[in-house]
Amino acid sequence: MKNRVEVLHGVNLDMLGRRDPEHYGTITLSELEVRIKRFAGELGLGVTFFQSNYEGEFVDYLHRLPELADAAILNAGAWTHYSYAIRDALEIAAVPVVEVHLSDVQSREEWRRVSVLEGLVLGVVSGKGPEGYREALEMLKQELG
Ligand code: DQA
Repeated sequence: MKNRVEVLHGVNLDMLGRRDPEHYGTITLSELEVRIKRFAGELGLGVTFFQSNYEGEFVDYLHRLPELADAAILNAGAWTHYSYAIRDALEIAAVPVVEVHLSDVQSREEWRRVSVLEGLVLGVVSGKGPEGYREALEMLKQELG
């Protein structure tokens, strides 16, 4: 049975709780992970988490992803908008991935409207806060069958 989902938090996501509450609310990363774990439990999925502010370390982790999980949720933070290294690593990982953003990236600065992950991900959930992770888990549950 395929039910292991890795939730990957990129650069600056460890600073949730200290970031602009208008875009990110006041939830901390550990509180967010508790909520995601609860959503996953309700759906019968297992979740594990990884966060890094180091692009190379994040790429190394993506290389190991197929051994660790059947699918992934990726909030790559600002890397979303420019890191072709992370895009390439995600392509190599070749597991189903849903891209999530807590804030509505389409209604913010122009540069946030671009995602270099486009075409590789199963879907994008943006602007729904922590609930967006539930939606992403539902998409992956459907995909994993
Ligand atoms: C983010 C949006 C990105 O533009 C930003 O750089 C982040 C967080 C989000 O969750 O809304 O760090 O991915």
